[in-house]
Amino acid sequence: MVAIKDIQQANASLRKTHDSLTGVFAGATSGIGLETLRAFAKHIPKPRAIIVGRNRSKFQPQLDQLHTLNPDGEYTFIEAEISLLANIDRTCDEIKRNVSSIDFLVLSQGYVHIGARDNNADGLDNSSSLRYYGRVRFTQNLLPIMSPTARVVSVLAGGKEGKVFLDDLDLERNYSTINVMEQFTTLMTLSFDRLAQQNPKKSFIHAYPGFVNTGTTGRHNKGLTGWAIGCVEAAVGWFIIQPQETGERMLYYATNEQYDTGSWSVDWDGTPKTTKALAGYREQGLAEKVEEHTQAIFQRVLAK
Ligand SMILES: NC(=O)c1ccc[n+]([C@@H]2O[C@H](COP(=O)([O-])OP(=O)(O)OC[C@H]3O[C@@H](n4cnc5c(N)ncnc54)[C@H](OP(=O)(O)O)[C@@H]3O)[C@@H](O)[C@H]2O)c1
Repeated sequence: MVAIKDIQQANASLRKTHDSLTGVFAGATSGIGLETLRAFAKHIPKPRAIIVGRNRSKFQPQLDQLHTLNPDGEYTFIEAEISLLANIDRTCDEIKRNVSSIDFLVLSQGYVHIGARDNNADGLDNSSSLRYYGRVRFTQNLLPIMSPTARVVSVLAGGKEGKVFLDDLDLERNYSTINVMEQFTTLMTLSFDRLAQQNPKKSFIHAYPGFVNTGTTGRHNKGLTGWAIGCVEAAVGWFIIQPQETGERMLYYATNEQYDTGSWSVDWDGTPKTTKALAGYREQGLAEKVEEHTQAIFQRVLAK
């Protein structure tokens, strides 16, 4: 376990070693991503942040706060609906026009969808696309401008890898909220394994944040289900992890030498974790099959 006070101390020391860093943030308009962005603005003297979100005007108050928090920072907002893969491609092209090198990429877009498969215009389940396919696409697209020792942090469920439906990798026949969680959590880590093999100086961190008080599941689900979950989230909010702590933890993963190079599956408290299921899939060499599947999905969707 890495104690939060050690993390805060390490982050506070970043200014001694880094005058400026460039980070790309997808899913940072609220919750964990936003707090990671704030921690970045707080601890780096001249932070350069590219923020990808759906609605620029809605984010304006947070953007103003970032300028107040650190007036020496540069904060660029790119408006995009990143649940669709072609939009991610366009967004990454725009990022490449804005910066020539990035030090880290933090991916926290997405939500838990409760109910039946909810296909978007790409023909992919929307929540699965945000939480898995889109994150791999962002990473793949931005690799050419990542600094040699860059890091990617995916905020999802590292250390919770479980059963994979091997003959139904996109869960067309076995869709359920729980199956989506286990399947795409495992696929995320296995994709990071492949990327780490192909980019041995870089680091790919799949982090589980724990139960964090962001109210995410109530906000992103409609009707009675969303309302009921929202009530539970509000009732337990102050007894679970606060997003400010998680933001500090995510910045730590993106910058601390402890997570240099390789593929990391990290529990809520910073402890690297390998589940029995993940170890088995690694032994079977499933990562290559996952890579083939993911690239085939990209080709199918983007050929349209
Ligand atoms: N909070 C937890 O306890 C917890 C636990 C385990 C895993 N996670 C995972 O960690 C990630 C971040 O969680 P969080 O609590 O920070 O959630 P959050 O506060 O709801 O933030 C989610 C982010 O994803 C974006 N997003 C949601 N739906 C989108 C869509 N359809 N298209 C484009 N962007 C969309 C949101 O943008 P908008 O502002 O535009 O909505 C926001 O920036 C999520 O994937 C979540 O499932 C969270």
